Amino acid sequence: MGLNMERNRIKIEFLVHDLKVPLAVIEAGLLSLLQKVEKYGPLTEKQTKVLERALRNTVVTRTLVNDTLELGRSSAGIINKNYFSVARFIRETLIEVFDLIDQALADEIRARESLSDLKDVLANRGIILDVPEGLWNEELCLDESKVKQVFRNLLNNALKYRKNRVTLSFETREGRLYISVGDDGEGIPANFHRKIFECYFQMDMQTNHCVRGHGLGLAGVQVLIEDMGGELFLESDMGKGATFTVRIPL
Ligand SMILES: Nc1ncnc2c1ncn2[C@@H]1O[C@H](COP(=O)(O)OP(=O)(O)OP(=O)(O)O)[C@@H](O)[C@H]1O
Ligand SMILES: [Mg+2]
Repeated sequence: MGLNMERNRIKIEFLVHDLKVPLAVIEAGLLSLLQKVEKYGPLTEKQTKVLERALRNTVVTRTLVNDTLELGRSSAGIINKNYFSVARFIRETLIEVFDLIDQALADEIRARESLSDLKDVLANRGIILDVPEGLWNEELCLDESKVKQVFRNLLNNALKYRKNRVTLSFETREGRLYISVGDDGEGIPANFHRKIFECYFQMDMQTNHCVRGHGLGLAGVQVLIEDMGGELFLESDMGKGATFTVRIPL
């Protein structure tokens, strides 16, 4: 890495680091309003809902900030494995993602515990969830926050670029976890299959489309997967949707 690149990386990390304090203040403020009713006054049901949603998302942001700093520290490829429940992992990630784009769906997911109920709720919104019952009830030993960041970014892209349908499938085979995220959108022509993993690259960069992101998601996904010793496969062509498959050794 060049000296300038390294300096830039440190500057960005420093900025992320300094987000911690204001974020903690926001989180503490929301918590106070929710928990110290005698001091700050009672809340209506609607106010409580708004504050709870804001609080959940500060927690998500705090996790992201910590993950980013952790990523910087572990650029040598150090990973933090822990046992986590597949069911909880999938439900949590879906709730985090939909909390930002479809609150009603997030609430419905929160209300469903069983796999078949969850599948039904998602299918109503064009999202096909395909997880074997056995895996749903299993615990996996992986770097959960890295796997979550990967899944969340692929899901956000699929939801952004789909026409109608998104397919999510989870599977373990020969000591590996496979996560596959597919959509039925415009797809990605073969000559872009490499480029989209570069920082800041977006296919519709030249056109006048309003910028819908930063072109950083897939670059980050690639780094995290490499850290975990995994691989990413892309199957896509113009007009044929895109399917990203991640393979991580267990
Ligand atoms: N499922 C998809 N279908 C079609 N194009 C995709 C898909 N996923 C990614 N792309 C293309 O790859 C580019 C890079 O994706 P990436 O996730 O890195 O950035 P982004 O989604 O544009 O922004 P960010 O993730 O930083 O918010 C996108 O701008 C888009 O052109
Ligand atoms: Mg993205």
